Amino acid sequence: AETLGASAAENGRYFGAAIAPNFLGEQAYADTLNAEFNSIVAENAMKWDATEPAQGQFNFSGGDELVAYAEEHGMAVRGHTLVWHAQQPAWAQGLTGQALHDAMTGHIEGVASHYQGKISSWDVVNEAFEWDGSRRQSNLQIQLGDGWIEDAFRAAEAADPDAKLCYNDYGTDGVNAKSDAIYDMVVDFQARGVPIDCVGFQTHLSSDSDLSSYQENLQRFADLGVDVEITELDVGGSGSAQAGVFRTVTEACLNVDRCTGITVWGITDKYSWRGEETPLLFDGNYQKKEAYTAVLEALNAA
Ligand code: G3I
Repeated sequence: AETLGASAAENGRYFGAAIAPNFLGEQAYADTLNAEFNSIVAENAMKWDATEPAQGQFNFSGGDELVAYAEEHGMAVRGHTLVWHAQQPAWAQGLTGQALHDAMTGHIEGVASHYQGKISSWDVVNEAFEWDGSRRQSNLQIQLGDGWIEDAFRAAEAADPDAKLCYNDYGTDGVNAKSDAIYDMVVDFQARGVPIDCVGFQTHLSSDSDLSSYQENLQRFADLGVDVEITELDVGGSGSAQAGVFRTVTEACLNVDRCTGITVWGITDKYSWRGEETPLLFDGNYQKKEAYTAVLEALNAA
């Protein structure tokens, strides 16, 4: 097919982008989104600080705008992210013990039930592990102990049984200590009946990233019986080196049956969180880059 989303769909997958509602009024942004992508995720609008600025007082305006846009344009919506150590609202950061636990489960219940039935897959928990496979010593880990992650998944399951429930992280672009720890958590969750349906691989890369075990890593999670999703793909760099990395990641997803799709972390280099690294498929003037062509070719070669 002629576009990323249509070509991905021909292979039973989605191709998505992280979106900010405030850019939807920019014609080139909306035109590129509508033409190329069949899934979206909120870059920031559905995070804890944005959705629950005061405890029990929810603000869904940004997320609702994105969900409405997606429904109008036939796009799926990924949910990002219910529980994370970053971007917690100030009122939550100082809580301890049961008060923090109640705040976490109350947040999950409030947001996931609001969007019940509208989210294809939720990043229920984001970035809970360190590079060495140990637990990140966040307020959640310190105050709640190891059980907080499963408690979050159980709360999300109760609030939205329709959504796939994912654990999402970065630095898991191969078989390594961090991806091993996540693998072991999935095995443990499955053994104890903790609901988990997918693992998100953020895949923030550079043009010289080592991807020698990238596909093998996706495959071992798929072999456990969970879906894998490439959730925040971007590749610092330019030209053919950047294009080659995008191609490798795309081919890996196509080669792993349970890889359900790819989301790039933005549409245009103009608004990327990694601006100077020009990591996306469209340049600052919304022109297709060599990386775009490499991805489309890989999708159409499958
Ligand atoms: O909304 C405020 C605005 O009111 C204020 O004027 C402005 C200046 O202070 O800040 C705005 O908030 C910023 C927010 O993005 C929305 O633009 C925060 O400062 C800024 O830190 C935040 O950055 C986001 C970052 O997550 C921080 O959490 C990036 O846009 C976003 O791309 C990035 O995305 C994360 C994923 O969620 C998780 N994986 C890693 C990825 C990259 O860090």
